[in-house]
Amino acid sequence: HFDRPLLGKKIMITAGGTKEAIDPVRYIGNHSSGKMGLALAKRAAQMGAQVALVYGNISVPVPKNSQISLYPVGDAAEMLAQVESLFPDSDALIMAAAVGDWRVKEKADHKLKKQPGVDELTLHFVKNPDILKTVAAQKDRQVVIGFAAETNDLLANAERKLREKGADFIVANDVSGDAFGGDYDQVTILEKEQDPVTWPRMTKDQVAKKLLTLLANRLEKPVRE
Ligand code: C5P
Repeated sequence: HFDRPLLGKKIMITAGGTKEAIDPVRYIGNHSSGKMGLALAKRAAQMGAQVALVYGNISVPVPKNSQISLYPVGDAAEMLAQVESLFPDSDALIMAAAVGDWRVKEKADHKLKKQPGVDELTLHFVKNPDILKTVAAQKDRQVVIGFAAETNDLLANAERKLREKGADFIVANDVSGDAFGGDYDQVTILEKEQDPVTWPRMTKDQVAKKLLTLLANRLEKPVRE
């Protein structure tokens, strides 16, 4: 299967940003467009995979494709629950979602009102679980790929994420330029015990294709015990 190297494989892909509620009408979010995750989902389907797309807030339409199952989620806790439930049946997980690092400690159950004479508001945050790290610890055969968007010390930060999160690959990208929301990306691939490999600047779709080819090669190799 030269043209469909992911035939018979189940690939879970997360995309977009999470929304962490403040009260029933407000949330904390981020600028993730979901483009990288969606490009991965479409390409993986084209390459023969059954795709589970777990997505938060995205600014592009979701693909309509019988090979792509859609799992919309809201906040990080929901994304974790969805990812954990699909993980045992997946051959690989690609975490392209921008998961909120923090959630509001005590969500208001009513809309927070302006008060006359009150000019400041303090919110307390607690840390969200790291989804990638949590599920990577539950790995049996799965290949787990994470992203690291950095504005400085790209390689050092990405190497630490590879180690600490227990991922098989980290796709590091410099987001000090135009990667956020854009169609192009310049990435460096980190893998355990391998030298980092920097790919030339290319479209997110080309990054998706190259990354999924790497994944297909890895999935073909028997599991090392
Ligand atoms: O630590 P940082 O957020 O830079 O790590 C990025 C990688 O970790 C991405 O693959 C992202 O999807 C994943 N992540 C996660 N759970 C979090 C935060 C990030 O799975 N709470």
